[in-house]
Amino acid sequence: MEMESLFVELRPQYLERILAIERQVFSQPWTERDFSCIFQEEQALSLGLKAADRLVAYGMGHIDRTEFHLANLAVDQGHRNKGYAGRLVEELLVRARARGCTWCGLEVRISNGTAVQFYQESGFRQVGIRPRYYLRPRENALIMRRELAVNVQ
Ligand SMILES: CC(C)(COP(=O)(O)OP(=O)(O)OC[C@H]1O[C@@H](n2cnc3c(N)ncnc32)[C@H](O)[C@@H]1OP(=O)(O)O)[C@@H](O)C(=O)NCCC(=O)NCCS
Repeated sequence: MEMESLFVELRPQYLERILAIERQVFSQPWTERDFSCIFQEEQALSLGLKAADRLVAYGMGHIDRTEFHLANLAVDQGHRNKGYAGRLVEELLVRARARGCTWCGLEVRISNGTAVQFYQESGFRQVGIRPRYYLRPRENALIMRRELAVNVQ
C-alpha cells in the first residue's frame, strides 16, 4: 500500500464525497437517501477508508441473521490497485463475524471483470446467477459467497 490509510465510521459528513465517488463509478448510483437510510439501520454495517486525510473508499451492507450481504463497495478511480478494497472488505468481514455472521454474499455485474476478479482473489466463489438483476444496462448478476471462518483474517 502506498499511502497510510485508516478506517472511518461513515457519518453524514462524508455523504458529499461518497456521492461524488458513487456517481463517478456506477451507472446506477445509489442516492443520498439510500446512503442516509443504511447509515441509520441497526442491521447494517458500513465503513470508509481514508488516505492522506481524504475518503477514498467505502463499503456497506446488511446483516440478515447469519449472512452479511455486501451491498456496495467502491474505491475512488485515482486510488485503485493499492489494496484499499481488500483492506476494507477484510475489516467489514471481521466486524460481520463479530456480529454472528458466518457467510458473506453479494451480487456483481457479470461484465464487471475487475470486481469479479477482486472478489475471487478475496476468497469469494460464484454460486449462481440472478437473471436481469441490473438496469442501465439490463444485465445478469453473478451471485458470490464467502464463508467467514472464526479467524476470518
Ligand atoms: C473492484 C474494486 C472495488 C477493487 O478495488 P481496489 O482497491 O483497486 O482493489 P485492491 O487494490 O484491494 O485489489 C485487491 C486484489 O483484487 C484484484 N484486482 C483488483 N483490481 C483488479 C483488476 N483491475 N484486474 C484484475 N484484478 C484486480 C487483484 O488480485 C488485487 O490483488 P493484487 O493487488 O495483489 O494484485 C475497484 O476496482 C472499484 O471500486 N471498482 C468500481 C466499483 C465496483 O465495481 N464495485 C464492486 C461492485 S459489486
